[in-house]
Amino acid sequence: MEKRWWQEEIVYQIYPKSFYDSNNDGIGDLKGITQKLPYLQELGVTMLWICPFYRSPMNDNGYDISDYQSIAPEFGSMEDLDELIAQARQRGIRIVIDLVINHTSDEHEWFQKALADPDSPYRDYYIFRPGKTPPNNWRSCFGGSCWEPVPGQEEYYFHVFAKKQPDLNWENPALRQKLYEMVNWWLDKGIAGFRLDAITYIKKDLTWHDGEPDGADGLSICSCGALNQPGIDTFLHELRENTFDRHQCFTVAEAPGVPYDHLDAFIGPDGHFSMIFDFSYADLDIGSGGEWFRPVPWTIPKLNRQIMTCQMAVQKCGWAANFLENHDQPRSTTKYLKDAQHNPDAVKTLAAMYFFLRGTPFIYQGQELGMVNCERQGIGEFDDLSTIDQYNRSIQEGFSEAEALEMANRRSRDNARTPFPWNGEQYGGFSQAKPWLGMAEEYPAVNVQAQQHDPNSVWHFFKKMIAFRQSGPHRNCLIYGNIEPLYAGETVIAYRRLNEEERLYCWFNLGSEPVSEPLPQADMDPVWHTQNAVRMENGMLILAPYQSVILRER
Ligand code: GLC
Repeated sequence: MEKRWWQEEIVYQIYPKSFYDSNNDGIGDLKGITQKLPYLQELGVTMLWICPFYRSPMNDNGYDISDYQSIAPEFGSMEDLDELIAQARQRGIRIVIDLVINHTSDEHEWFQKALADPDSPYRDYYIFRPGKTPPNNWRSCFGGSCWEPVPGQEEYYFHVFAKKQPDLNWENPALRQKLYEMVNWWLDKGIAGFRLDAITYIKKDLTWHDGEPDGADGLSICSCGALNQPGIDTFLHELRENTFDRHQCFTVAEAPGVPYDHLDAFIGPDGHFSMIFDFSYADLDIGSGGEWFRPVPWTIPKLNRQIMTCQMAVQKCGWAANFLENHDQPRSTTKYLKDAQHNPDAVKTLAAMYFFLRGTPFIYQGQELGMVNCERQGIGEFDDLSTIDQYNRSIQEGFSEAEALEMANRRSRDNARTPFPWNGEQYGGFSQAKPWLGMAEEYPAVNVQAQQHDPNSVWHFFKKMIAFRQSGPHRNCLIYGNIEPLYAGETVIAYRRLNEEERLYCWFNLGSEPVSEPLPQADMDPVWHTQNAVRMENGMLILAPYQSVILRER
């Protein structure tokens, strides 16, 4: 593919509420991010994706926007944001912001006007349907019907997520125009691009047919008529033409439901976005309906297959956004390493495994410290609305409270949203005040300060790994080279990266036992490895437990 500037980025995702609290109110803020720019620069990141900081009632922590063009007061002011953009630029760091345009908050002025007056033009900015009962049986992503009755009227409005997040009506050209104006306003401000939230939900099947009931609540998952529906490409193409194209900006889309044979439309040479997130391996432990109470067993060979299938599909048409964590996922250490989640060797190999895939690597705050899930003792300790819904649904489906809590602890989005531990002081140095969300107990040990002092820490490993990709002797191959799967044993993930100059063979042992992998040829030189040494004997590479090795064909 033609070279594009964003292929060389190292993206770091910030959840502003939990990154750094500069004014000691227990909530992270924009000034807090600005103050920590030196930290991010030292780590080697080149781009920040900042989760929503728009004005919002914070029902879904900012993914429920009540004003697209102002800043939530708890996060600071527009001046603070301008300052952050300017200071980041001076340090060679670009800023990408979340664009949430499938829905707004019900407290957005448009929705308020739509509710107040059925004849207002804003009524058609949203999806209203008459009826005495909900117009169909679709279940929203956060539980319950997708339809919420309008008080005092025989009408319902539609929401794919929470009832405080009414969906916008993309069929309305006036609404689309308003959104494009807002997007261009942000681009003119000097941001480098967007992460598009839940974008494959914008087109609905307008027959509003019922789906096959799939749970004890008698409802049917709304993806049957609201996810990646025919016609979506027309909307996305128009969006791109009217906004992103004019600024040549970067876009990464949260685009669940895009099958690999539809990828070209999304990320091909003329695709809607620079790249999209593929959730096939992040969600390999839960069913396709996303229910936590239907856990799916998985193995390392399965993880390997999912990753490689994704990489090969993406390589056919475009570029990947590689990630193991984000603000909606549990910590990758706990998910993929289980008993070895506290073992730094294992954490490093897991990190290297995804980092050297073909694509742009995304690091979620705290991943560079090897943070693990934060276990909570009761449902009352959780903040996330989707956790509370999954817990209640688990009980409705016949699980005990203890089982429902276990599933919440395993999968909750709050696992990744705990305040960021800067040091071993109270509240991890995140704030002087009690943080908005309880944090993991391990922060006295797992924190930035401690890890910066330890040259063998996960943090130093991330820093070296970033430098190796960005400016090491094999950067061209590691960034731009093609990828091919390699034979791999039961506990190993393996691939090779290749371009005209070189072939690099990469092995990552995610198991607790040593393993021998056949060497593809005799003349191989180590270019990178974890742990003490690289062992090659009689045509075999002997990987220590949790070791990763990259060899170069001579
Ligand atoms: C996306 C976001 C998630 C949010 C949802 C609704 O999935 O990543 O955090 O809750 O959209 O906006």
